[in-house]
Amino acid sequence: MPATGHTLALTELPAQLLRLLPNGFIGEELRAGRTLLEDRTQTGAVVVTLPERLPITESRELAQGLAKSGVGLCAYVVNKMPATDFSKEEREVLDAWLAHSPPLFGRGDYVRPLVSAPVVLPLVDDARVLVCCGAGGVGKTSTATALALLAARRGRRVLALTVDPSKRLAQTLGVEPNRREPTAVSRERLQAAGITAGTLDAWMLDPAKVAEDAVKRVAKDEAAQQRLFQNRLYKEVSRMVAGMQEYTAMEALFGFLEAGRYDLVVLDTPPARNALDFLEEPTRLASLLEGRVFQLFLPPTAETGFFERKAAELLLSVLSAAFGAENARDLQEFFSLFLPVFKDFGLHASKARALLSSASTGFLLVTSPADEAVADALYFQQRTVDLKLPFRGFLLNRSEADAAGRRLPTLGEADSQVPALARAFAKFLPLAAAEQTRHARDAALLATLAAKAAAGSGSDGPTAFARALPTLVTGASELEGLAVLADALSIA
Ligand SMILES: Nc1ncnc2c1ncn2[C@@H]1O[C@H](COP(=O)(O)OP(=O)(O)OP(=O)(O)O)[C@@H](O)[C@H]1O
Ligand SMILES: [Mg+2]
Repeated sequence: MPATGHTLALTELPAQLLRLLPNGFIGEELRAGRTLLEDRTQTGAVVVTLPERLPITESRELAQGLAKSGVGLCAYVVNKMPATDFSKEEREVLDAWLAHSPPLFGRGDYVRPLVSAPVVLPLVDDARVLVCCGAGGVGKTSTATALALLAARRGRRVLALTVDPSKRLAQTLGVEPNRREPTAVSRERLQAAGITAGTLDAWMLDPAKVAEDAVKRVAKDEAAQQRLFQNRLYKEVSRMVAGMQEYTAMEALFGFLEAGRYDLVVLDTPPARNALDFLEEPTRLASLLEGRVFQLFLPPTAETGFFERKAAELLLSVLSAAFGAENARDLQEFFSLFLPVFKDFGLHASKARALLSSASTGFLLVTSPADEAVADALYFQQRTVDLKLPFRGFLLNRSEADAAGRRLPTLGEADSQVPALARAFAKFLPLAAAEQTRHARDAALLATLAAKAAAGSGSDGPTAFARALPTLVTGASELEGLAVLADALSIA
């Protein structure tokens, strides 16, 4: 299965689709799928985790989510358990010794690297829009928020716009998800994150709400608005349609920048390879909607020709067989009412595209050291090249690439007079060596990314970069962790 959030999206899918398509043979298939998932004798989840605080918290959240969608839990598997385990006494003497030791591998804290010229800071100071893209779970939302914190620290009026409302982040920032308007992060919270001059608003966007506003703007006639809101398909599709989130985020982003309300908008994107597709020109959606096939979905008018009318009837009968007659009618109504709204989105998307292609925008591709995540980051880099978007650099998050001044401890450093410390040391050394190996691997990856960034930089803009952000043992969901990421970004 994919990572936590995406697994839940998959297991919830049959129930969601059933609400949308309860009848016809598709409905039957979906019901069979849901029954299979919920039948404890046939389906059980095995949740695989690592012996670390963060994956364990996530696994527990996953198990709760699975229970909610009716899937039974068979077992937790804790992978990569270290072969060694420390006794309480060994842990204590080792912790005391480490507290006074110089920077070592295996110590777990973050040593700030010394990089000569900061490259992220100029972007944070000058850009009007920063966009974070990348694979699922690599830290796009955390990095976007940390960038926003840093810009606010530098005195700018910043909006962090996320289309992926995470409950924990909402709590951290003291912002309710799904508000109609951005919310200002409180002074106390800002001060705790080292912000005294600038301001930070956060908006955890509910795409359905923004779509609703767009409908109100376009469908001027109250009755048509209401019919569309009541349309069952609209309700489901406005949540599920691919690209809807990006469109709605663009709507919002564009409105704020035009109104001059913020100096900088940091945009977080959903974890999908197609996150940038909506910027393609001519907008694919608009051309799809103008296509003849789509017109067949519309109810016939006096001008509809004989063949179109027959084709539409045929289509309706096919749809009725597949989805049930009532849904087919809903489908038709949906298309006739929603078409103008989509067209409006298309229009704004092309204006937004112009903004996103300008030199005042920066695309940052976030990745973790995992192979699949790096592959996605490289894919996004190619997309920015294809779409002529200003790619600025890679951020290698959750890495061990920076290990300035760290070294491996040696057995001789343990006081052999304290037997527990000598024992603990023997167990600690392989862990420190493993971390050093990860460091070597991540440092090599960072060098590769830097080369790819430089090779992929446009001739007119600045050279793109690759910089590392540390792995935080505490995770990055609390203000403290985000502030550390902001520190790391400021010198990256
Ligand atoms: N540098 C880091 N060190 C430790 N934990 C981190 C770091 N960056 C992010 N995390 C943690 O990883 C998890 C995923 O982060 P985040 O939600 O920012 O990723 P995302 O790419 O936005 O995910 P999604 O693709 O689901 O939107 C969170 O629990 C976050 O606290
Ligand atoms: Mg996210």
